[in-house]
Amino acid sequence: MPSLQVLYQPGAVMRLLIVCLILKTAHGQDDWNNLLSLNMNISPMNNANQFEVKLAITNNENKCMAVKVSTEDNPNITYLSAHATYTACICATNDFFWEIQVSAKTFLQGKAEVVSAKGICPDGEKTYPVTTYMRTVAHEIPVTP
Ligand SMILES: *[C@@H]1O[C@H](CO)[C@@H](O)[C@H](O)[C@H]1NC(C)=O
Repeated sequence: MPSLQVLYQPGAVMRLLIVCLILKTAHGQDDWNNLLSLNMNISPMNNANQFEVKLAITNNENKCMAVKVSTEDNPNITYLSAHATYTACICATNDFFWEIQVSAKTFLQGKAEVVSAKGICPDGEKTYPVTTYMRTVAHEIPVTP
């Protein structure tokens, strides 16, 4: 029954993918989770409810990685600096900065994504193979009414 086989195939593929994902998660989660560490620091500036955000990204491997670093849009946060997305070759720890003004208590989420090292890391630099690795961190921003 060829038509029945066709009908069943997508489900089978999906199940296989899910099994693979579960196995991968169970197997290599620690290593996988530790490619990058994110550390977000929020320090008050001179004016009320204005803060400097520092996001420190540490590469835990012994090979450099190109990393795209950003913070998510948030209706309660206005950027005093540019709301920049940075892409940098990170071999140890790099710090990234934004300045924000906050209108209500909220959480700021930062994100680091491994991207292709081509054109980002120097040619000849040993780089970690590109993965679809992404990691986020969130930090509460206090607001004084
Ligand atoms: C923004 O502030 C309002 C008012 O305090 C709150 O209800 C809302 O959840 C906040 N949004 C975010 C994304 O934090």
